[in-house]
Amino acid sequence: MNVPNHDILIVGGGGAGLRAAIAAVELDPNLSVGLVSKVYPMRSHTVSAEGGSAAVIRDEDDSFDSHAFDTIKGSDFLADQDAVEIFVKEARDELIQLEHWGCPWSRDDDGRISVRAFGGMSVKRTLYAADKTGFHMLHALFQTSLKYDRIHRYDEWFGTRLLLDDNGAACGVAAINVRSGAMQAVPAKAVIICTGGGGRIFPFTTNAAIKTGDGMSMAYRAGCPLKDMEFVQYHPTGLPGTGILMTEASRGEGGYLINNKGDRYLSEYLPDKMELGPRDMVSRAFVHEERTGRVFSGPYGTYVHLDLRHLGEQKIDERIPFVRELTKNYVGIDPVYEPVPVRPVVHYMMGGIDTDITTATPIPGLYAAGETACVTINGANRLGSNSLSELLVFGARAGRYAADYAAEVNSPSSDSLEKMAADEWQRIEQAFFKNEGRERIADIRSDLQKTMEQGAGIYREQESLAATCAELPKLKERYARVEVDDSSSVFNTELTAALELGSLLDVAETVAHSALLRRESRGSHSRMDYQERDDENFLCHSLAYRTDGEPRIEYQDVVITRWQPQERTY
Ligand code: FUM
Repeated sequence: MNVPNHDILIVGGGGAGLRAAIAAVELDPNLSVGLVSKVYPMRSHTVSAEGGSAAVIRDEDDSFDSHAFDTIKGSDFLADQDAVEIFVKEARDELIQLEHWGCPWSRDDDGRISVRAFGGMSVKRTLYAADKTGFHMLHALFQTSLKYDRIHRYDEWFGTRLLLDDNGAACGVAAINVRSGAMQAVPAKAVIICTGGGGRIFPFTTNAAIKTGDGMSMAYRAGCPLKDMEFVQYHPTGLPGTGILMTEASRGEGGYLINNKGDRYLSEYLPDKMELGPRDMVSRAFVHEERTGRVFSGPYGTYVHLDLRHLGEQKIDERIPFVRELTKNYVGIDPVYEPVPVRPVVHYMMGGIDTDITTATPIPGLYAAGETACVTINGANRLGSNSLSELLVFGARAGRYAADYAAEVNSPSSDSLEKMAADEWQRIEQAFFKNEGRERIADIRSDLQKTMEQGAGIYREQESLAATCAELPKLKERYARVEVDDSSSVFNTELTAALELGSLLDVAETVAHSALLRRESRGSHSRMDYQERDDENFLCHSLAYRTDGEPRIEYQDVVITRWQPQERTY
């Protein structure tokens, strides 16, 4: 296939990628934008977001400062406050823009867009489309992107390597067309990575199987640091077994969490916020209940009950119909009549590719937005419903700033890029088809997930983290002996699984090592051996750099504009 030279190449076709593409062509209709996605864009993980997207739209009881402070406090004061101030201001415009593009926000009887409560937010400011918000947002973005013939999509192309020119600037991506198996260079003046997170490094997650941290790994291998990777969010309410998300909106609409004594146990931990505490604290409360034996036990481990019965059928059907659909289909329970078993489950990575507020990374010409990036508005703990707004705000920024950059640089030479792509294919052939190894992808992946859960779960400590860090190089050695049996070129999903495992291993080592060195507890990073927050030594971002051995961890100051760190109580 003849691949044109693009001005901007976006890797990742979910919410952030589509928003970036639209922003770029709206800024300059003559720009050529390539959009590489390993899945058809409507299958991106944004589609599964449920509860809503936060912004200040009711000026009478809300303000930008209030949204900013909630976000910063939620982050345990690790968010960069300049980024948060931009975020809260631009989020509102983005959500109104989405309404104009056809997103069917739920509405009150008086016609105003509805807002609901979400954890850690001091007022109702989460806009929603029932509990299928991600689905509707992604539709609105995707159908809008179809208006622009300057957006050229490469659906089901798997990007394997970021290409750099002689000056170390990003100039495209080597990608496999999964339908044909051909490796090709996709050249561009600027590259934006929007590939989502890597929650699949853990065994039990709300994340789709596609969330393997490919973009984070691509940037990391090219020399870009991954920032704040130790901060991994557990969502308090996933279905045991599958990890399917029971949206926080079910608690925002009034649902209770109940232990095996029949108590709303959060009264012991978060009496003022109860079920609407921030996710890190609500998840830790579950672990305490588990330790005191006040949880239920089932075939998929321990759980508590999410009780929605008092909301009544009409409200459940109107506000959270997807919860009813999912529980009926996946656990055979109708929440109108029975409580739903739930437990904490890995949901989101606060860390990611290091960017500044323009979404630029330290690599010239490389930008990143969405969960794959760390700008950071989320710090040590993200507030629910900020991530959909974040991917819009920073996706749009990425499109615009990358367009400005592309206007100033020359197109890369296609010949040298083709040579780089050929080298990349040789690497892959050598690694997976020509080695003598007998290691299986699934075995290494499940051992990886096991060690990550043991060392870097809800609670962490030196010994178990060190054990995980020691296990990871062994898994990498085994990875070098992975055998791919399927030698066909068309839809070789065994090969993509092998490549994804490489990404998972990269992401995992940054999480484990950053967590090992952060000797304090902050937000989602809870150390049994260092239980206090330590602003003197750790009010800083970690930056993990790839080396031939363990990642090198450096630190960077947090940006504080108006809110001095204080004790985080709710
Ligand atoms: O529970 C939820 O609906 C998740 C929302 C979020 O992670 O922002």
